[in-house]
Amino acid sequence: MINDKIGRRLTDLRISLTDQCNLRCAYCMPKEIFGPNYPFLKRNEWLHFEELDVLVKTFLHLGVKKIRLTGGEPLLRPGIVNFVERLKDHHNVEEITLTTNALRLAKEVQALKAAGLSRVTVSLDALDPKILGEINGRGKSPDIVLNAIDAALNVGLSIKVNMVVQKGVNEGEVLPMARYFKDLGVPLRFIEYMDVGNHNGWKMAKVFSADEILKEIQAEFEIEPIDLSSSAEVAKRYRYKDHTSEFGLITSVTQPFCGGCTRARISADGKLYTCLFASTGLDLRKILRSEKYHKDQLLSILSKHWGHRDDRYSELRAVTKNAQEKVEMSYIGG
Ligand code: GTP
Ligand code: 5AD
Ligand code: SF4
Ligand code: SF4
Repeated sequence: MINDKIGRRLTDLRISLTDQCNLRCAYCMPKEIFGPNYPFLKRNEWLHFEELDVLVKTFLHLGVKKIRLTGGEPLLRPGIVNFVERLKDHHNVEEITLTTNALRLAKEVQALKAAGLSRVTVSLDALDPKILGEINGRGKSPDIVLNAIDAALNVGLSIKVNMVVQKGVNEGEVLPMARYFKDLGVPLRFIEYMDVGNHNGWKMAKVFSADEILKEIQAEFEIEPIDLSSSAEVAKRYRYKDHTSEFGLITSVTQPFCGGCTRARISADGKLYTCLFASTGLDLRKILRSEKYHKDQLLSILSKHWGHRDDRYSELRAVTKNAQEKVEMSYIGG
């Protein structure tokens, strides 16, 4: 469906399966805040898969074509492989994707592929073990992730890699990462560091901009932009002129793309968010579990909610004063 106020279509649904993660990336879940006493959702607060089935069916009626499973770390949610299978076989979803840190990916790739997963997006911010270990807060080395990527490629899953670039932290890894994934033929997307959540100490001065990234890459490689006029992708894509591979720039800070925002997000406890930077969401779990709820109402509830949205946080970032507390990225999904 299209939002009449701003003409935004709803095509992309992101489902967070848990807010927990086995890493503590400083830009997302700084370990000082997300420690043992952090109030993560309890298992009994999660939406049941049967409830997700009901929501998925209705979102497909509203025009959703692509479903992304995310977290936290979605592979920590028991039952994910069966859920992928249901999305594919029962709901006939065109594209099912997964965003993961890949720590548990290698042993699941075969089952995920067989269940019908279309693609995987893996987060990896550096190849240098020391730099990566510091960013991910747990000292985890890149080998685990690189092996999982190889395993996924071996079973025929297509892969993209996300790298969040922070000035003074990992901008020196832009070229090593570009070289590695160019040779592997895997699209690498460089993401500008964003002010998601409330705890990552974001400052504009820590953003290594897409323009700066592009300059570094152009100094070493011949590249050309890929025409995206008909695509709803968030990344601005480029190809290497030797046709080995492509890469993307996700410019949410320096060149926001709210006008083309086609995503709805559901948290693991069933709140519906229409912006990554929102402070409140619509409590779908409460609606689904209320005695007064009748299944015919869901379609109109969801379509009204999408129809009324007018979020454009990234476009307003520079002029927003006294911003409200935002939802956490690990809770709502990347
Ligand atoms: P595919 O290209 O189809 O794999 O999907 P995608 O480009 O949406 O990929 P992905 O979900 O991996 O998004 C990459 C990153 O872009 C996310 O982790 C976020 O950091 C950022 N991002 C994605 N969607 C949005 C959005 O709607 N708003 C903002 N500000 N950032 C987003
Ligand atoms: N800035 C940009 N991207 C972020 N992600 C998480 N936190 C941030 C942030 N502060 C994204 C990364 C990661 C995905 C799960 O969430 O792309 O790969
Ligand atoms: Fe976990 Fe992903 Fe957040 Fe890193 S970015 S802490 S892997 S949810
Ligand atoms: Fe969409 Fe909000 Fe991101 Fe803008 S800031 S693109 S409205 S999620």
